[in-house]
Amino acid sequence: MRVDGRHRRSLWPAQARDALHVIDQRLLPHAFAVERLTTPADVEHAIRDMVVRGAPLIGATAAYGVALAMNADAGDAALADAVRRLGATRPTAVNLRWALERMQRRLAALPPQARAAAAWDEADAIANDDVAVNEAIGTHGLALLRGLAPRDGRRLNVLTHCNAGWLATVDWGTALAPVYKAQAAGLDVHVWVDETRPRNQGASLTAWELGQQGIAHTVIADNAGGHLMQHGRVDAVIVGCDRVSARGDVANKIGTYLKALAAHDNGVPFWVAMPLSTLDARIDDGVAQIPIEERSVREVTHLAGRAADGRVVEVQLVPDGSAAANPAFDVTPARLVTALITERGVVSATAAGIASLGEGTHG
Ligand code: MRU
Repeated sequence: MRVDGRHRRSLWPAQARDALHVIDQRLLPHAFAVERLTTPADVEHAIRDMVVRGAPLIGATAAYGVALAMNADAGDAALADAVRRLGATRPTAVNLRWALERMQRRLAALPPQARAAAAWDEADAIANDDVAVNEAIGTHGLALLRGLAPRDGRRLNVLTHCNAGWLATVDWGTALAPVYKAQAAGLDVHVWVDETRPRNQGASLTAWELGQQGIAHTVIADNAGGHLMQHGRVDAVIVGCDRVSARGDVANKIGTYLKALAAHDNGVPFWVAMPLSTLDARIDDGVAQIPIEERSVREVTHLAGRAADGRVVEVQLVPDGSAAANPAFDVTPARLVTALITERGVVSATAAGIASLGEGTHG
């Protein structure tokens, strides 16, 4: 997708295969800066501290972390250590485990001297596959949006939560890929962007990337979506996901569940864009079994933003001494999900629907 008119991916390896470049998402929308990661420890920090975030991008970044580790030491112990360390950076998005297992499978079968080159090749393949997968999700999602497009000249209004755009993936995004495809197809589409407290991925990232792409959008407080749905101002909700269970329960950014409830109550389609790399076929009951990341309460008690003089400053929101809590994800039960949009097509959020996707969906 575009940044100041120039096509970019959210990560790209150095030609010499000695570094990974990523966009520092902590600084957006106020500054665009690229960070150069040269060690597995740099990659661990980038994932943990959310320099990069979003389930598919976390997976691809970790794959390059393994490649950096193999540059230094490609022995069995070093491979296992890199996979363990990178896998411990964030708990909820299963793409991390998926990418690391794919790397490990590929590399463990090779002699150590062949591993470094193969690791960079495999990480490149993961990144390129992600782009193709997301574009396919966009095409399937576009067909759904076409079916909803108002015939009275009114805009098509899509509501999204968090950032599941190209910044959360290598390119295209998951939930936003259908929107980008709709724009290219000439549909008049407008996006309601949930601000997505506490880290504001909607207000900071989704709004920024939609703006860069020239897509009409409006940032709303997280609490506004239900009201807009009651008044017929939302045609569809599309969100991404961090882990989907075998029966279709969906973990995504905290607050997603409330949007699904409101959509259900108002007869608004609630679609989840799900690359197969986000499916965890080893678990069934998402509410009971998906690990939910607890992040620093400072993300709740404080807020950062640009002051009138241009400086980015942090302010405290709560009284001194108030307790705070910060569960970063929630789980939407499958019964509230209208359908899953995958790279292989649109299916119901049921065990049968997921199984119908075929190979690669059985853990
Ligand atoms: O904590 P984050 O910013 O990594 O959470 C991201 C989300 O919840 C996204 O909606 C999800 O990963 C889907 S990304 C295509």
